[in-house]
Amino acid sequence: MRLTVIGTGYLGAVHAACMADIGHEVLGVDVDAEKIRALTEGRPPFFEPGLDEVLTRALDSGRLRFSTSLSEAAAFGEVHFVCVGTPQQAGSDAADLRHVDAVIDGLVPHLSSPCLIVGKSTVPVGTTPRIAARLRGLAPEGVDVEVAWNPEFLREGFAVEDTLRPDRLVAGVTSPRADGILREVYAPMLDAGIPYISTDPATAELVKVAANSFLATKISFINAMAEVCDAAGADVSTLADALGHDTRIGRRFLNAGLGFGGGCLPKDIRAFTARARELGVGEAVSFLRQVDDINLRQRLRTVAIARDLVGGAFSGHRIAVLGATFKPNSDDVRDSPALAVAAAVHREGGEVRVHDPEGIYNAHLAHPELRYEDDVLTACRGADVVLHLTEWSQYREADPVKLARVVCAPRLVDARNNLDAGLWRSAGWTVRTLGRPGPATVPAPQRGGGALGHSSARGCAAPAEGAVLSRAPK
Ligand code: UDX
Repeated sequence: MRLTVIGTGYLGAVHAACMADIGHEVLGVDVDAEKIRALTEGRPPFFEPGLDEVLTRALDSGRLRFSTSLSEAAAFGEVHFVCVGTPQQAGSDAADLRHVDAVIDGLVPHLSSPCLIVGKSTVPVGTTPRIAARLRGLAPEGVDVEVAWNPEFLREGFAVEDTLRPDRLVAGVTSPRADGILREVYAPMLDAGIPYISTDPATAELVKVAANSFLATKISFINAMAEVCDAAGADVSTLADALGHDTRIGRRFLNAGLGFGGGCLPKDIRAFTARARELGVGEAVSFLRQVDDINLRQRLRTVAIARDLVGGAFSGHRIAVLGATFKPNSDDVRDSPALAVAAAVHREGGEVRVHDPEGIYNAHLAHPELRYEDDVLTACRGADVVLHLTEWSQYREADPVKLARVVCAPRLVDARNNLDAGLWRSAGWTVRTLGRPGPATVPAPQRGGGALGHSSARGCAAPAEGAVLSRAPK
């Protein structure tokens, strides 16, 4: 089939490449000429494992092209996928649909043959009929255009896998014709037994926000438990393991720590709350406000633990930050909890050195005031505390003995509960986490290099020991 994919960000670029990979003729369209040039040359404009290979394969097959022209898209496609961003509106919780509307306004007047417009972007429930009404006023006389909603559930870092082998496909349609077209688009997936749920557009739109709300709630639930564990001297990781054995609950998305961020979960729960209020059912989803609050509190708690570890104030202290992206295997720093913590520490006068394997370019654009380092050792050199904020595998593989030699004082906040705390402690580190108890006795902070011979590029300001010990893990 001849498909267009309009909007070639994290969602659209992967969708375009994967649709060509399964045999369709695809035209990817974006307003950003630089992005289109990169994609045409086979260079993904962002980091996504496995995308290079699929993109190259699709371009080499001759089935994938890119353009900046919506009129070219109109002439080319039988099906037009809308994959543009729906960010949070400035000054409001609601979603900003201006990019979706711009695509409709730019595409529909150029249409000359029957086609289906399929929204994939996450939108407030009720968007499909609104778009249908909008395009009725724009479509040329006699051209049969329909709209359907087919939400995307892909996770960054697994986007190719999630697009080629999704857990399920959801089609929000208003006619058997639209349903038939979508079944044809996804025929290889349907043949492979992937569940296909055909429903009305409102349900399809809601599936997406409901799924993200559920995931966000699960994460905030375990983070609330982490706070209780901290107060009670219990271990949230063991708690999550034990809960997870209950197949009704499941272990996934029960990793306590710094919480969720990224381009979807935070803005989706806010937009859902705003839309529910418009529908007069704000009360029904009012718990999402608390989900959001618990999530944001993890950032404050992480800053507070780090502040305590350096004696009550960041000023005059060097803070190493490991991780800038909102999660590993992505270069995305949108609403990144890690960067939010780094920026807060900087605002409080800390001398922050950030490392990230893939996110430094984007992090620098978002927070030019922070200092970025290309390798972990350099970021940690002379640090009074190391903050582990994004669980990249290379941090788990880092040698705590080696790192202890370069820091000013071996203090670690593992805000992702993902490092081997025992290993770090046996290398002399004071380790603090969110929701996990430490040993009964904590090594006293080391002065001037400490027992492991820590060197420092500068004089190490010793923290007030009382402050560190009074906040020692239970
Ligand atoms: C999410 C949804 O998973 C996906 O289905 C949807 O299409 C888009 O939004 P994504 O934003 O890529 O995908 O990230 P996800 O893997 O869901 O993680 C979201 C955030 O939650 C990350 O910041 C992650 O670090 C955090 N998280 C996840 C936790 O804090 N604990 C967990 O147990 C799991």
